[in-house]
Amino acid sequence: MWYKYVMEINRKLTVEIVDNGMNGEGIAKLENTTIFVPNTLQGEVVEVEIYKTKNNLAFANLVKIIKESNERRKPLCPVFGECGGCDFQHTNYENQLKLKTNVVKTTLQKSLGVINVKPCVPSPKQFGYRNKIEVPIGDNKIGFYKWNTNTIVPIKNCPLCESWFKKLLNAFDFFIKNYNISTYNKQTRKGNLRHLVARYIDDCLSIVVVITEKTFPHAKELIDLLKKDFPNLNVFQNINAKPSGAVMSSNFKFLCGKPVQTATDFGIMYEISPYSFLQVNRDMQNIIYQNILDKIEKNSVVIDAFSGAGLLTAIVSKKCKKVFGIEIVKDASGNADELLKQNNIKNAININADCGVELPKLVEKLKAQNTQNINIILDPPRKGVSKEVLKAILKCQPSKILYLSCNPATLARDLKELAHKYKIESVQPYDMFPQTKHIETLVCLERKEN
Ligand SMILES: C[S@@+](CC[C@H](N)C(=O)[O-])C[C@H]1O[C@@H](n2cnc3c(N)ncnc32)[C@H](O)[C@@H]1O
Repeated sequence: MWYKYVMEINRKLTVEIVDNGMNGEGIAKLENTTIFVPNTLQGEVVEVEIYKTKNNLAFANLVKIIKESNERRKPLCPVFGECGGCDFQHTNYENQLKLKTNVVKTTLQKSLGVINVKPCVPSPKQFGYRNKIEVPIGDNKIGFYKWNTNTIVPIKNCPLCESWFKKLLNAFDFFIKNYNISTYNKQTRKGNLRHLVARYIDDCLSIVVVITEKTFPHAKELIDLLKKDFPNLNVFQNINAKPSGAVMSSNFKFLCGKPVQTATDFGIMYEISPYSFLQVNRDMQNIIYQNILDKIEKNSVVIDAFSGAGLLTAIVSKKCKKVFGIEIVKDASGNADELLKQNNIKNAININADCGVELPKLVEKLKAQNTQNINIILDPPRKGVSKEVLKAILKCQPSKILYLSCNPATLARDLKELAHKYKIESVQPYDMFPQTKHIETLVCLERKEN
């Protein structure tokens, strides 16, 4: 059949890109088949090579651009297209924002019908914005995974981080070669050095060196080497021999410096341990936090669910009567407690627990006390909010819900549940992760009048 023949693996085709999809990839249509082609833009005519087919879907790599979009630009990074870290370096920043706004709009409209989505707020920095990075190490290479594989593409720098990252990579490269350090092999599961996790905040570098064996050879030499470039240095080791995808285990050992990094935002001093979540783009984080603060009702009782290291909880405490932060990671909740102590904040309480368990209990307690004017902030991980949490929210019916999401698909799913009782007041995407497909979205929901 013509259709089957055309869609063979390795087959080369010339197609027109008619749209861009949820992951930023270009979309072409041929007969009844949809073809996904990364690194292409709407309006382009391209030669592609099919590498996978499934029912009436085909996945292809870009071979040659025949007609180029005006939105195309030269990527800054020499390994763009090979490295799986970035999706959008081939298009100008304005178009990146348009594509992201469109993804949020299309995804939400599928579940909720026509919806007004505000244009994506640009990041103050388009490059050099990341304060944290996780780098796989293996087969004597340090770099990022090749798109859709476990193969490491060696890198010397990443333009998403400032110059600290290049210095760190240089030092690690030298360390591995000079001391003949064994690196992990995913197939054989042999080799020691496996991952480098680094966070750089206010001139302080904190790294976690993930190893698979009980000993970390030449750790002292590594620390001495790094101290030349990073006088303010914290080093941890983490032993993770499990073959699963998780980068770190809970087996940490503190090797040098201080166990936490400190920073100040909104006049609040806070601490971050390596296991705590912190938004990677601090400028964008603070724009979003300010927008959340603006929307919180004065004198409300706030539940900050999925509260991380507690900075947002503390910011909100300035405006509300009382705030409860709920966070599952012990270290992060500990950071949040320390923050309250150091900043002398008295109207906030951190609860170290699973939101699915604790939020329903807290809601019961607040209802029993006849608490009025409850606002809930939800900032869950990519998998979104559990059924238990949604049920508890619908039970207590807060006057306002501020849902900050990093995944439009789970956001759409959860909003569909909440939409029975809540009207969507605003949908605001933010570009927390320029050059990549990832989007942060803040949705403000207000309780419908009965
Ligand atoms: C996207 S982060 C948001 C953190 C914080 N709001 C911030 O802005 O830094 C999600 C947080 O939820 C926490 N978390 C994940 N699952 C959880 C659960 N079931 N209950 C409570 N916290 C959870 C994670 O540890 C992480 O700190």
